Amino acid sequence: MQYDVIIIGAGIAGLHAALKIPKNKKVFIVCKSNSWDCNTFYAQGGVAVAANEDDINLHIEDTIKAGAGLCDRKAVEIMCKDGYKVVRDFIKEGFEFDKDENGNLLYTKEAAHSRNRILHAGGDATGRMIHLFLMQKNPFPLLYKSTVVDLLIEGDTCYGVTVVYNGEFRNIYAKNVIIASGGIGSLYEYHTNAKSISADIQGICLEKGCFLRDMEMTQFHPTVFIHNKGARKQLLTEALRGEGAYIVDETGERFLFHYDKRGELSPRDIVSRAMFDWKRKTNREIYLSFDNFTKEFFKKRFPTIYYHLKDLGFDLPKDKVPISPAFHYAMGGIKTDIDGKVEGMRNLYAVGEVANTRVHGANRLASNSLLEAFVFSKRAVNSILNSDDNIKYKEFSANREVLIKEGDKERKNYLRSIMWEYAGIIRKESGLKEALNKIEKMLNEDIGKLLRLRLLTSKKIIQSALNRKESLGAHYIIKE
Ligand code: SIN
Repeated sequence: MQYDVIIIGAGIAGLHAALKIPKNKKVFIVCKSNSWDCNTFYAQGGVAVAANEDDINLHIEDTIKAGAGLCDRKAVEIMCKDGYKVVRDFIKEGFEFDKDENGNLLYTKEAAHSRNRILHAGGDATGRMIHLFLMQKNPFPLLYKSTVVDLLIEGDTCYGVTVVYNGEFRNIYAKNVIIASGGIGSLYEYHTNAKSISADIQGICLEKGCFLRDMEMTQFHPTVFIHNKGARKQLLTEALRGEGAYIVDETGERFLFHYDKRGELSPRDIVSRAMFDWKRKTNREIYLSFDNFTKEFFKKRFPTIYYHLKDLGFDLPKDKVPISPAFHYAMGGIKTDIDGKVEGMRNLYAVGEVANTRVHGANRLASNSLLEAFVFSKRAVNSILNSDDNIKYKEFSANREVLIKEGDKERKNYLRSIMWEYAGIIRKESGLKEALNKIEKMLNEDIGKLLRLRLLTSKKIIQSALNRKESLGAHYIIKE
């Protein structure tokens, strides 16, 4: 059996690709955990999109400015121009963004945007709403709890994937494979990502010789409540600040203005570093304050956050919430062209956070990620549908390497602390070298394949950080 397309991942990039493939094609979607265990599901802020045609150029310029000189202008132009249409098509398909009482779309503001251009749904549940909508529209089989442990690559062709389902290894073959498996959150001790986002596929790509680019560009979100249980920490969307929440230290000082005159609405790398630095200098706790909000407004506009924090004992908007930066998004990823095609491959695509088109450069503009996933998933599907490349079926024996060995869990947690300490918000060459040694040491131990894949991706992040000697965007390295 040879499918037309296998899609790895059931977040916005994977499911939107599925939506764009004609129903008569043979498509199979694999997802590692439950379908909702993806970053899309937890996306709060919204979808950045030009508010009208005149705003497209400004959206392009804001994106390029945030990207700190590393963006590919062509990719950005495609995202902002095509995105304007793709989002409107999505609305025509039936998706409902939040509107005012007169039926006009409501746009909010987030950091480093020159104007309000963030569409949202369910208040702060944009990703969850989009995910639900795409799941309801999906006509293709979707296999849950199936881990992709290999890409069946020979030369410049990918013939399918090896999946482990219920402990069994199975090869699934296809003419085209779309990787839409998300970023790298679980490599870090503190992160906002779904727990299944653990960089396995990036590791497989490294083993198969595919190029990962800009892996040092890791984005830390400044306003995260990190005291909840579980690996995934509670994001407090930037839209809160867009609507008037502000950051203070325990004495009430709005210290961000010492760092940048835009204060709370400075780009998130600046806010994260300012918080890190202020805490180091003053040893004061840092909080998000909501005293500009009424209770009614908070509940209506940010219901997910309101109820989560209420469950944790906060009385909002009266209480301030302690915050810390946490890993949030990978700008780097598998290098692709502007159709999502993996460099050097005939029929392997990567879209969404796992990919690197350089659309985000060195620092992603807030809420551009859902837009990117919409646009490039569609382009990848168009490229597949327009291709006359005839990929023949080819059988492989499944690689049944042991996935998890004793001690891997402890090593995995150790890796997360290494990444947080040495490859986090502020980096030093000596720290990065130390991290590299520790990772090399673990790679030489008797470990399972899944840990090796994480370690390989981590090693690539560290090596890329060491190679970039000067600070740029989200990569901040201090001289010793
Ligand atoms: C947020 O809601 O603050 C996150 C939005 C994003 O990461 O783009």
